[in-house]
Amino acid sequence: MIATTVFPGASPSSYAYRSVTGRDLISIQDFSSDELACALELAAAMKARPADFRGILSGKQIVLFFEKPSLRTRLTFEAGINSLGGASFFVDQTQSRLGARESLSDVAHNLERWIDGIVLRTFAHEAVTTMAQHAAIPVINALSDMEHPCQAMADMLTLQQHFGDLRGVRLAYVGDGNNVANSLMLAATSLGASISIGTPRGYEPDAAITEAARELAAVSGASVNVVNDPIEAVAGADAVYTDVWASMGQEDEAANRSKIFAPFQVNQKLFSYAAKHAVFMHCLPAHRGDEVATAVIDSPRSVVFEQAENRLHVQKSILVLLLEGGIHRFPPRSANA
Ligand code: CP
Ligand code: NVA
Repeated sequence: MIATTVFPGASPSSYAYRSVTGRDLISIQDFSSDELACALELAAAMKARPADFRGILSGKQIVLFFEKPSLRTRLTFEAGINSLGGASFFVDQTQSRLGARESLSDVAHNLERWIDGIVLRTFAHEAVTTMAQHAAIPVINALSDMEHPCQAMADMLTLQQHFGDLRGVRLAYVGDGNNVANSLMLAATSLGASISIGTPRGYEPDAAITEAARELAAVSGASVNVVNDPIEAVAGADAVYTDVWASMGQEDEAANRSKIFAPFQVNQKLFSYAAKHAVFMHCLPAHRGDEVATAVIDSPRSVVFEQAENRLHVQKSILVLLLEGGIHRFPPRSANA
């Protein structure tokens, strides 16, 4: 898409801001670790000083196509776009798949004539990559069966704000090696946090993504550990993360999965193997009594609503970066930022 422009005297941050303009966010791998760090820096600034960024997306039109239900993702995109002065259009695709009525490439070539950005929640990851391949405007993955990058970036902001620095943080994820686990593994290792994943045998995260995360970890000084023992995964962790055992589209498997995943429930006993200061994380929606016990998710150690809040700030940052929402108009950093 649009070529990177490096302008004289650019700071590392402004370089990375500029370098993502016009690109897509389909996988966490679409951003370098510097670009991810800059997106989090901008998100933190937007969270601290939202009024400074009002109007920054004025004149921008963004469409949201969702094949699956959503509370957080839909509303944080819509509220975020609105608060930045842009316009959003929600298209409910839960009754028929995107591409059922006409080809994805024709949809893409229509949208690029009217709209500035596309946000997609799909079943098939390929629907997002195909849209991105054909549309000359940025495409953002708002969850596919393979990845949930906006969630993982919000989770990294949550950990960063809690621990101060992601490097050295040890994150444990227990449960299903799903879209959330895949993006989490990539985001953590890209930013220097180590991750230990505990799943039942046969439910490990995607093999290619695990390999990519190991490569990112080798560069950032982090590590990736995939095991089939929940206690081994959680031992000594600074944060313990879980997600539903049956993702959207896997409802038919829910009863069977409940039996298979039962030893991976994050209850007080399993949580007690983590560090004393450990926090509990969940992307939500949660099923109390299945993947997490009420006593853990509703305890003072739980940061699930910080994660949910940070979806808003991170997605505002992503939109501004990809859509070049008045980058030149960014307020100067305050002296103590
Ligand atoms: N965590 C998350 O993506 O929530 P929704 O499915 O409600 O958007
Ligand atoms: N893994 C879950 C995440 C929901 C936000 C799903 O895909 O349904």
